[in-house]
Amino acid sequence: MRYEIVVVGPLETNCYLVYCEESRACAIVDPGAEPGKIIAAVAGLELKPALILNTHGHVDHIGANRDMKDKYSVPLYLHAADAAMLEVGEHIELSLLLGAKDSPPPDRLLVDGDTIQVGRVSLKVIHTPGHTPGSVCFLVGPDLLAGDTLFRRSVGRTDLPGGSWETLLFSIQDRLYALPADSVVHPGHGPSTTIGEEMRANPFVLHPTFR
Ligand SMILES: [Fe+2]
Repeated sequence: MRYEIVVVGPLETNCYLVYCEESRACAIVDPGAEPGKIIAAVAGLELKPALILNTHGHVDHIGANRDMKDKYSVPLYLHAADAAMLEVGEHIELSLLLGAKDSPPPDRLLVDGDTIQVGRVSLKVIHTPGHTPGSVCFLVGPDLLAGDTLFRRSVGRTDLPGGSWETLLFSIQDRLYALPADSVVHPGHGPSTTIGEEMRANPFVLHPTFR
């Protein structure tokens, strides 16, 4: 996967620019804050944004959707179950801190198993509810954009509205740990890891083999 990480906002959200090397078409995944920084990275790599993707609807992942849409006039995709989260008003203090704006509504609702094409790059949608009801991961060959579902040695919190520990556990154990062990996990915050490493060493969700 060809990509650039732009770390944005005080919560250090990983905004990923996933791109096709030939056409320079790119998906902007989770533009959470600091639109100027994202726009500069797009320009620096001479990318042509084709769409905006959200792994979920939390404000630190959607706060710059509006600015991206205004700048590039491209469609926004997210899972239906998180579509109601796109107004930032509910978390007004955090939104002010992030400089977040209400997101435009999604142009397409993602469904488990969908394939999204960006130039020659295919992103496969895996619905992984738990952190939020509409959390998704995007699989790009051996690379997984994991949003806030799975982190290096940690998992997404489930104490926010719509969160569910049982559902998150199922999503990680039955969906993500079913991927090849050498799949590279690119989380919504913090450093990358692999599925195999987390199966062996994630203190929250070990694979049954390693319990
Ligand atoms: Fe989140």
